[in-house]
Amino acid sequence: MVYNTGAWSRILAFSSFLYLVTTQDVPTPPSSYPHDYPGKPSGDFGPQWQKYFKVNDKLPNVTFPITQSYAGNLPVNRAGHPNDTLFFWGFEKSPGSLSAPLTTSNGQPWGIWLNGGPGSSSLYGLLFENGPININPDYSASSNNHSWNKLADYFWVDQPVGVGYATADETGYAPDEDQIGKDFMGFLSNLVKVFPSLAQRPLQLTGESYAGQYIPYILKAYFDMPKPPVKITNILIGDGTYTTGQVFELAPSLSVLETYPQIIGYDVDVYNYFKEQNKLCKFDINLTYPQHGLIPDPGIIYPTQRNFSLSMKVDRFNFASSLKRRSVEPEISLAKREAARQEWKREVIDQGNGTINPWYGCFLINMYTDYAYNYTFPWNITTPPVFDVSVHVYLKVLELKFSKVYNIPDALNPEENLDASVFLNNPRVRTALHAPTVKDWQLSIDFPFGTNPYDPSPEAINFFNALATNATKKNVGIHLISGNNDALVAHFGTEVAIQNTTFGGIQGFTRQPSTPWNTSDGKFAAVVHQERGWTYALFYDAGHMIPRNKPLAAYEFFRDFVLGKGNIGTVTSPKPGITTVVGGEDPKLKGVIRGADPIYYGSGATQSTYVFPAATRAAWKKVNNAYQPTGSP
Ligand SMILES: *[C@@H]1O[C@H](CO)[C@@H](O)[C@H](O)[C@H]1NC(C)=O
Ligand SMILES: *[C@@H]1O[C@H](CO)[C@@H](O)[C@H](O)[C@H]1NC(C)=O
Ligand SMILES: *[C@@H]1O[C@H](CO)[C@@H](O)[C@H](O)[C@H]1NC(C)=O
Ligand SMILES: *[C@@H]1O[C@H](CO)[C@@H](O)[C@H](O)[C@H]1NC(C)=O
Ligand SMILES: *[C@@H]1O[C@H](CO)[C@@H](O)[C@H](O)[C@H]1NC(C)=O
Ligand SMILES: *[C@@H]1O[C@H](CO)[C@@H](O)[C@H](O)[C@H]1NC(C)=O
Ligand SMILES: *[C@@H]1O[C@H](CO)[C@@H](O)[C@H](O)[C@H]1NC(C)=O
Ligand SMILES: *[C@@H]1O[C@H](CO)[C@@H](O)[C@H](O)[C@H]1NC(C)=O
Ligand SMILES: *[C@@H]1O[C@H](CO)[C@@H](O)[C@H](O)[C@H]1NC(C)=O
Ligand SMILES: *[C@@H]1O[C@H](CO)[C@@H](O)[C@H](O)[C@H]1NC(C)=O
Ligand SMILES: *[C@@H]1O[C@H](CO)[C@@H](O)[C@H](O)[C@H]1NC(C)=O
Repeated sequence: MVYNTGAWSRILAFSSFLYLVTTQDVPTPPSSYPHDYPGKPSGDFGPQWQKYFKVNDKLPNVTFPITQSYAGNLPVNRAGHPNDTLFFWGFEKSPGSLSAPLTTSNGQPWGIWLNGGPGSSSLYGLLFENGPININPDYSASSNNHSWNKLADYFWVDQPVGVGYATADETGYAPDEDQIGKDFMGFLSNLVKVFPSLAQRPLQLTGESYAGQYIPYILKAYFDMPKPPVKITNILIGDGTYTTGQVFELAPSLSVLETYPQIIGYDVDVYNYFKEQNKLCKFDINLTYPQHGLIPDPGIIYPTQRNFSLSMKVDRFNFASSLKRRSVEPEISLAKREAARQEWKREVIDQGNGTINPWYGCFLINMYTDYAYNYTFPWNITTPPVFDVSVHVYLKVLELKFSKVYNIPDALNPEENLDASVFLNNPRVRTALHAPTVKDWQLSIDFPFGTNPYDPSPEAINFFNALATNATKKNVGIHLISGNNDALVAHFGTEVAIQNTTFGGIQGFTRQPSTPWNTSDGKFAAVVHQERGWTYALFYDAGHMIPRNKPLAAYEFFRDFVLGKGNIGTVTSPKPGITTVVGGEDPKLKGVIRGADPIYYGSGATQSTYVFPAATRAAWKKVNNAYQPTGSP
């Protein structure tokens, strides 16, 4: 089987991230299958399989206590594809909590975490975000005090088939999202045979990034079943890609610059230029509370001065085009750089006569990242991106560049080394986890859709109204959360998605989110808002990977607002005509919240921070006075 040979490109999210990948040379998708370890029971799945899946062996470097866990592959029950499996690693909350049969006393909630991609392994989440084992930059392991399995029995599941340690035959990769949903239900029907209590206990389906496409489709597949294998009670999606690319990535651009004016060096002319472009591109969407009418789709306007690749037009995820350093070569002297910046400004500002920039079109995120890489310290000292190599060679290179847009104040170069492959492919670990031997674990694959280079299914937003109606009827809580530092899947897009969706019979939230929520350490952690079964939270000082950046806040949010019935931010109507919000509303927290001043740069771990001069920052307040929480984040 051969992939289309032409150049194509798309975004891949390693783990949870979304990454742009350009490749000329795509490998044939490999066939893989689970490994049979000694003691494998025969016959159908049942509790007797617990013994087989039990992780008994001591894991290298794991010198701290972890709870009992179970791991291995389970089929998705797809006809004609017996080797199509998902891989799970599930941890007990407390001794016996997962393995015991259902009794009245153990009907506790359980959870599943999914990373995105498409094509990324959820073991990234386990080992770098919200799981009990954390792999450090030097490959050693440490304990995560904020692992979500301290709150509920928790599973990290590699999916769709073929991703991470999940397996697929060559023709068995997922053709589309509906199949991904069905495969997941097939997997769950086997999982509940092994752990029968799970069939009845409330399931929290959680994940981030591209799981924002997976989870709604999985929930839809669940609602489609007369007798689903599990009981989903909540979903939680962090920085999710359920909307169109123009909504989650392009339309938020100006709000990203208002959150971090550092990106453009607080330059007022440049800001005003972006403001005009933003309006010309119809990204100046004014959300209203309550929402008046449907929000028009801004559409996408492509550059006219250059050709984006063909796939760029057909692939809706392919927005972050190649960063092309046009006017400033690295060897150019510093004085010449400032001259070039002034020239760039004159060029674009002269052009700012009501016309959309012909080089960037409405790809404003490309324009401001180009600007920062060329002209703004410390981004201008980071390694320029390299394109046009195959995906596999490429992972690290991409990470250098694109991590910047996942967590804006992080301009480290190189980034922290987050690599789980040494641990997961270690023979002792592999055996302990009953993982396949026919393939090595990798963070991401570029063919989760088999021969199709991109996800052919419509964005989940297309059925959000129907999903919301079903969720209300079946009492499934919807939690959409965002990190304030994420530029690629920025929170404004999530707010647009919510305001354009009808749930509980009303379109959008009726009050603008502005209720502060503090973590137990007494620090402001997020704006939280809840109406009619939907919860939104905007996490301060968190990037794309909220549990990694803010472990305590993510843990306590999951505990208090997903598992718990925390009511902060809930709109209530104690008497007709009177509306109150639990925890109050702070007008300063409406809309854009400024990030903190320091930008982190240096190599590997943080070496330095850069703060722009006080006068520059003070002057900016006259331009845009978005609230900036005080104190170190
Ligand atoms: C770990 O978390 C628990 C509960 O949140 C807390 O009591 C304990 O002090 C924490 N330990 C460390 C080392 O942070
Ligand atoms: C499934 O895996 C087995 C090895 O366990 C292999 O012999 C068989 O060919 C595979 N089937 C398909 C359809 O790939
Ligand atoms: C809603 O539920 C119905 C079954 O009641 C199902 O047919 C439909 O596909 C579901 N839609 C979504 C988007 O969940
Ligand atoms: C949004 O509000 C701004 C400021 O009030 C206004 O200039 C702009 O035209 C509005 N946008 C739309 C699409 O109405
Ligand atoms: C809002 O919803 C309508 C109707 O579903 C849709 O046509 C429109 O594109 C949506 N707007 C955005 C910004 O997604
Ligand atoms: C874009 O590509 C087409 C077809 O290859 C070519 O005719 C056209 O001149 C190109 N336009 C630009 C701006 O490069
Ligand atoms: C940044 O510099 C490169 C050349 O090194 C150029 O291709 C790109 O257009 C420049 N971007 C801006 C915004 O000047
Ligand atoms: C206005 O913008 C267009 C398109 O970029 C450009 O050709 C023209 O020269 C500009 N006019 C002025 C007066 O700057
Ligand atoms: C980066 O930008 C800053 C601020 O514009 C400038 O002072 C510095 O010389 C630049 N460094 C490089 C390597 O371009
Ligand atoms: C264990 O940790 C050390 C660093 O302390 C590292 O060199 C080694 O590769 C790790 N082993 C595994 C299997 O991850
Ligand atoms: C929340 O934290 C902020 C400081 O971050 C503090 O000013 C405020 O009083 C706290 N609120 C509560 C209810 O603890």
